[in-house]
Amino acid sequence: MSAGTRPLRVGVVGCGVMGTDHARLLARQVSGAVLTRLTDLDAGRARSLATELGARTSADGPSLIAEDDVDAVVVASADATHSALVLAAAAAGKPVLCEKPLAPSLQEAARVVRSLEADGAERLVTLGFMRRVDPAHVELRDALRSGAVGTPLLVHGTSRGVSAGPGATSEGLITGSFVHEADSVPWLLGSPVTHVCWQAPRRSAGGPELQDPQLLLLRTADGVLTTVDVLLGARYGYDICCEVVGDAGAVALSGATHATSLTTRSADLLRTSAYAADWRPRFAEAYRRELQAWVDGVHGLPAPALATARDGLVAAAVCDAAVGSMRAAVDGAGPWVPVVVPA
Ligand SMILES: NC(=O)c1ccc[n+]([C@@H]2O[C@H](COP(=O)([O-])OP(=O)(O)OC[C@H]3O[C@@H](n4cnc5c(N)ncnc54)[C@H](O)[C@@H]3O)[C@@H](O)[C@H]2O)c1
Repeated sequence: MSAGTRPLRVGVVGCGVMGTDHARLLARQVSGAVLTRLTDLDAGRARSLATELGARTSADGPSLIAEDDVDAVVVASADATHSALVLAAAAAGKPVLCEKPLAPSLQEAARVVRSLEADGAERLVTLGFMRRVDPAHVELRDALRSGAVGTPLLVHGTSRGVSAGPGATSEGLITGSFVHEADSVPWLLGSPVTHVCWQAPRRSAGGPELQDPQLLLLRTADGVLTTVDVLLGARYGYDICCEVVGDAGAVALSGATHATSLTTRSADLLRTSAYAADWRPRFAEAYRRELQAWVDGVHGLPAPALATARDGLVAAAVCDAAVGSMRAAVDGAGPWVPVVVPA
């Protein structure tokens, strides 16, 4: 922030896992910003976080957006609330960083982007695809761009968690978890996803209604084939991997970025790896960089590029094709479905 520029006064909608994390980062670690307001359906949750961080509370999302002491908004409430809050912030002329997804369905995401573009307000909206500023993903992308592995041929990704959690659905694995690869794979390769195919093995113990794991195959316009296994009931830890195989080598996210390696005398001569229980430790630096880049960008300072509302729409179209393949699957084998991004 240049000398004399007033800190950006930020309000956060939703004080659950992500909203609490974002609010604490804004209050303590992001320069050029000050956390002024919080709101949550659970008023007590918002109040106690506000007390911890020296902020005030608002009655609900729309009133927070309208507050005089809010210049910009972070949306970290439930998926179904995102589109209305994004449009309300944009209508108020306030920059908004919205957690993924932009909207729960492709049709709704398309409606949001059409409305933003018609009003010339798309520049106000940033999507929380934090892998774009995750140091390990940035390093991987830089390696690809430098030609270190030659021409990319294959990508192998894994998206695993400790448990699927209550209320998880087969479709939710795609729109909630795989949506990150729907954005990060084309971003890494610099090539859009054109077709998606859904496959499934037998089910893990997540329950009879939940297809976990799932295997997603992606074709990008450059001819690269990507596999992504999504397994939310992996039990051993939160584990995000990505390897790109080229015609001159292979490059992968380093295990050290998400697991700690432990060698002790009591470990029977084994080295053990300790994984995080969820995404927060793994992507802590990415969330910090994301918020800093967003605040810097609003101040007009040089900052890494973050995902736009249109990127959110494109990712929604990739997920929509994956869900289409899943619904058409016979005995766990779905067809290839083209990705159609609405105009
Ligand atoms: N980028 C990532 O890595 C990442 C990781 C996890 C979740 N997310 C996304 O972040 C968002 C929040 O996820 P979470 O894990 O924090 O969920 P959560 O359930 O822990 O928190 C959501 C909070 O939003 C509140 N809320 C719901 N509707 C609201 C409304 N209309 N107004 C105000 N508050 C409302 C709930 O009471 C709850 O406290 C979701 O959209 C999710 O998809 C992103």
